[in-house]
Amino acid sequence: MRIAVVGSGYVGLVSGACLADFGHEVVCIDSDVRKIEALKEGVIPIYEPGLEEIVLKNVKAGRLQFSTSLEEPVSEAEAVFIAVGTPSRRGDGHADLSYVYDVSRQLARVVRGFTVVITKSTVPVGTGDEVERIIREANPNADVAVVSNPEFLREGAAIEDFKRPDRIVIGVEDERARPVMTEVYRPLYLNKAPLVFTTRRTSELIKYAANAFLAMKITFINEMADLCEAVGGNVQDVAHGIGLDGRIGGKFLHAGPGYGGSCFPKDTLALVKTAQDYASPLRLVETTVAVNDQRKRAMARKVARAIGADVRGKTVALLGLTFKPNTDDMRDAPSIAIVQGLQDAGASIRAFDPEGMTAARDYMSDVTFAADPYAAAEGADALVIVTEWDAFRALDFRRLRGTMKSPLLVDLRNVYRRDLIEVHGFRYVSIGRPA
Ligand code: UGA
Repeated sequence: MRIAVVGSGYVGLVSGACLADFGHEVVCIDSDVRKIEALKEGVIPIYEPGLEEIVLKNVKAGRLQFSTSLEEPVSEAEAVFIAVGTPSRRGDGHADLSYVYDVSRQLARVVRGFTVVITKSTVPVGTGDEVERIIREANPNADVAVVSNPEFLREGAAIEDFKRPDRIVIGVEDERARPVMTEVYRPLYLNKAPLVFTTRRTSELIKYAANAFLAMKITFINEMADLCEAVGGNVQDVAHGIGLDGRIGGKFLHAGPGYGGSCFPKDTLALVKTAQDYASPLRLVETTVAVNDQRKRAMARKVARAIGADVRGKTVALLGLTFKPNTDDMRDAPSIAIVQGLQDAGASIRAFDPEGMTAARDYMSDVTFAADPYAAAEGADALVIVTEWDAFRALDFRRLRGTMKSPLLVDLRNVYRRDLIEVHGFRYVSIGRPA
């Protein structure tokens, strides 16, 4: 099957590469000439485990190509994915759909024969209707069916999530799209991935509802962690104890410094705005957004409290800056608010992250970036684990003790166990576990 993917960012590139790996003939398109030239040379613009290998393999096999021009690939394709960005619009938190609409206009002029146009970008409810209207307005003769097919990929696990999804959600209005979409995802039958067909608006809502629910789940356990600290409980046992109930489920109950990334913060906000626009407020999601924002700042105060109220002149070493491990993505990472809060209180910051230090420079200033955890910890008054990279799971605490000014570990991801740290003469502060 011939497929065009417009937008070769994170979602477009992962989807295009995986569809090619399934045997489809895919062209990934982007208006960024440098990005496309780099991809043609085999240079992958993002850090995602396993992606480079799949891209190179399928380019070599001739199933995956790159182009800056829409015309030829789209006119030859039976299915065209729109996978361009939908950033938060400055000022009001709504999703900015200008890229999606621009692409729709361009597609309209070049589609040939019956073509299924699929929005993969995360778009507010009703966007599919508008995409269809724009295409018909730009070219009344275009024979298209506009479909919603949201992605549920996690950064760092995107290839696995694409190839072994829990479900594939497809929103159709024109029944002719159904067999085409079934064909696109036929290679996944083997994995028994259910195709959930629904209406276009419902499909658009499912994406936001899923992310909002997960954000709410994380926020719930984060607040439970605070309560555990106050009353002397253990949040990990609470999460385990409730998670075994199949109605609740054990995933996404890991307490931490608050959720970040390019999706949860943006999508929860956009959903809140949509709900307000329709006078049907989602108060639980509104509260989730507010609680999570406050939590990131509260983490700086938690670190300060662990050091002793006054951190002026103290040095704090942070391990992990990205919003989660296995990515170089710094967007809305809790580390940003933590660094800011500690600097405002007068502390100096040193930091190490395996992949995120280049990107981090755009989000924080006056930070000394170190070559490894031990260099970061040198002379520090506290060592803080902000992101649970594997590389931080087996730190040499004897070595750290020798190099730090005072041996204190603030573990914001509960990577360690108190007794295993305290034997090395460290003080240990974690999230929602008994002091
Ligand atoms: C999220 C969703 O998990 C994907 O299904 C979705 O497709 C994607 O957004 C998207 O909309 O594109 P992602 O942002 O890559 O994926 O990362 P997650 O693994 O979901 O983590 C998000 C944040 O929640 C991270 O900051 C992470 O540290 C935090 N988190 C996650 C917790 O604090 N506790 C948990 O138990 C789980």
